[in-house]
Amino acid sequence: MTSRERAAELDAVDELAGLRERFALPADVIYLDGNSLGALPASTPARLARVIEHEWGERLIRSWNEADWFTTPARVAGRLAPLIGADADEVAVADSTSVNLFKLLVAACRLRPGRRTLVLERGSFPTDVYIAGSVAELLGGELRLVDGPDDLPDALDETVAVLSLTHVDFRTGALWPAREVTAQAHRVGALAMWDLCHSAGALDVDLHGWGADLAVGCGYKYLNGGPGAPAFCFVARRHQDGLATPLPGWHGHAEPFAMGLDYAPAPGIGQLAVGTPPMLSLIGLDEALSTMDGVSAKSLRAKGQRLTSLFIELLDQWCPDLVLASPRDPRSRGSQVSYRHADAYPLVQALIERGVIGDFREPDIARFGFAPAYLRFVDVWDAARHVRDALAAGEHRDPRFAARGAVT
Ligand SMILES: Cc1ncc(COP(=O)(O)O)c(C=O)c1O
Repeated sequence: MTSRERAAELDAVDELAGLRERFALPADVIYLDGNSLGALPASTPARLARVIEHEWGERLIRSWNEADWFTTPARVAGRLAPLIGADADEVAVADSTSVNLFKLLVAACRLRPGRRTLVLERGSFPTDVYIAGSVAELLGGELRLVDGPDDLPDALDETVAVLSLTHVDFRTGALWPAREVTAQAHRVGALAMWDLCHSAGALDVDLHGWGADLAVGCGYKYLNGGPGAPAFCFVARRHQDGLATPLPGWHGHAEPFAMGLDYAPAPGIGQLAVGTPPMLSLIGLDEALSTMDGVSAKSLRAKGQRLTSLFIELLDQWCPDLVLASPRDPRSRGSQVSYRHADAYPLVQALIERGVIGDFREPDIARFGFAPAYLRFVDVWDAARHVRDALAAGEHRDPRFAARGAVT
């Protein structure tokens, strides 16, 4: 790829190009952080304004019935299910990913009585390790950490209740081969659970095809639900009869308004609801998912691979000294590209000043996410050119860019 015109040609034949206009992106920004906080769908402000002013402001409590607030979690789950290769009644939308990890890790141990070992990757997103550590402690079990696929044969034995992995590594973008690893867990009788935070909405997640037992993921990255949007859980239908949540809240009760003191779980996945859903955020997620109606996960994945490959190709050419932290093979990479650099933090800040928004992860990772729903190939070309120019001008050495914010 030698000219911006060639990138424009790729956009001209991109079957997903029309999706971009469903998002309200600032004209002067190339947004490479949709893997952290997704972009604002163009229709969300009007939808939320209507919900706030009419459904809440005028109709008040009546909206739980009239505006179907009560059934919104199930409706949103139904919209999400096709993007992760699941059926609607296997998905619950509620709480944060961290809380859902707790619910499902305990439920996994209960589904495998007599087994109390949880296996996770050391490089998992930290919340996964914190929560699994707490579950192991509460249940008198063991948390076993692996460093990669080579450690699995030793780590997986008959004591393991659940192998819980983050599908896409949040630092490097490296991808676990989910189908093979799920089968590996099953061979010792363990359940396989996937954290899909960096996958849902960008990768061809196929929970049925993988044979996955459980999954969690968030609504605010590639699903564009907005800051702090509710997260989701997946429980394969075959496990739902024996499912026992450790957080039996009233919204997961079979008859929440009977107000009985005995807990009777709602059938199936319904028991994973806990308390009153954050309706404004949930409706934000509903609206965001409606922008993806009919979009196949396979086409998002194919475009994401092409976008990330182009970025790597350009930076190989223009900045040969940059150290790629992500896998070169697009099949082993999520929808992000990470580089290691001694000045990664100030480099990212310099790029943000240029209008190219990525982020930094400890200790030395400059991370660029490529949301296939709204990024163009010309954006990739322009972003790579800004990286080249910022490095050539030594902007990463400017002390202005060294001061750290609370969120990096
Ligand atoms: C892979 C992964 N797991 C879990 C989380 C935590 O999600 P939450 O803040 O919704 O609990 C994140 C957040 O970025 C994440 O990237």
